Amino acid sequence: MLEVKIANLKLKNPTILASGIMGESSGSLIRVAKSGAGALVTKSIGSDARTGYPNPTVVELECGILNSMGLPNPGIEEFGKEIEDIKGIDIPIIGSIFGRDKEEFSMLAKRMEEYGLDAIELNLSCPHAKGYGLEIGGDPDLVKSITREVKRNVSIPVFPKISANVRDVVEIGKAVEEGGADGIVAINSVKAMKIDLSTKKPILHNKFGGYSGRGIKPIGVRCVYELASELSIPVIGVGGIETGKDAAEYILAGATAVEIGSAIFYRDVDVFRKVCQELEEWMKDNGYESIEDFRGLALR
Ligand SMILES: Cc1cc2nc3c(=O)[nH]c(=O)nc-3n(C[C@H](O)[C@H](O)[C@H](O)COP(=O)(O)O)c2cc1C
Repeated sequence: MLEVKIANLKLKNPTILASGIMGESSGSLIRVAKSGAGALVTKSIGSDARTGYPNPTVVELECGILNSMGLPNPGIEEFGKEIEDIKGIDIPIIGSIFGRDKEEFSMLAKRMEEYGLDAIELNLSCPHAKGYGLEIGGDPDLVKSITREVKRNVSIPVFPKISANVRDVVEIGKAVEEGGADGIVAINSVKAMKIDLSTKKPILHNKFGGYSGRGIKPIGVRCVYELASELSIPVIGVGGIETGKDAAEYILAGATAVEIGSAIFYRDVDVFRKVCQELEEWMKDNGYESIEDFRGLALR
């Protein structure tokens, strides 16, 4: 009932672990795989190890989470050793990468393919890492050339992940499509800030962070709707999904699958199983037998 296909990936259900929430350690990814997710995205991996920003890097807000981790990761070499332990996972694993230019993205993508991963997510949208995020993801020419170069270098599917913090998501979406991507992921966390009323200063060490969780769901749904209206490649929706009804809303807006991140903080890794159960109940109540029966209905 819940199976979906994105490019050549067959998912038993449309829920995917979003990048960064459970780190990239094998133990946490195995836990998510066992908890019923349809696929996993790793934390974003770069060329070299990064420790990330000093604390505080995460703060809980009224309707979500503000984070500025600074892309901590072990670097692509070390990641290759860690990924050895999760080769037995029987759901697709999507390797997320970040870089400064098309050469770096291509090198990282090739390594991910050599490690045996099933697809690549290009993080073109980090809201708080200078040189790696919105400077790239907001420029359609760069987005197109990075996507095209990565596609030339790997044969597994490539899914660029974009931000809502751009002039026009459709302009970026078209650049992704013209670059030959197999799908597009929207959205990354939204650039935001929290001021501490006692110190009178931004709470995060990095001042700016990315806002995620239920507060950004309407922004994610809007972006998916705009992208699905104009593009023919599959759209993977992400932002504020906590329940089966949230997932249904994204699918009605045109998403083929959905990624879940912050909700793990509120509903634990069980969130994947719960979202699937709730989605199935909603589908039964509405007389749908498959995801395709109602995908994109809001667009018509
Ligand atoms: C603590 C934390 C770390 C994140 N790290 C990454 C990352 O490394 N790469 C990336 O593409 N997105 C990262 N994200 C963004 C999420 O993958 C997702 O796009 C965003 O949180 C919106 O989804 P959500 O509302 O379900 O959390 C991170 C989010 C959080 C909260």
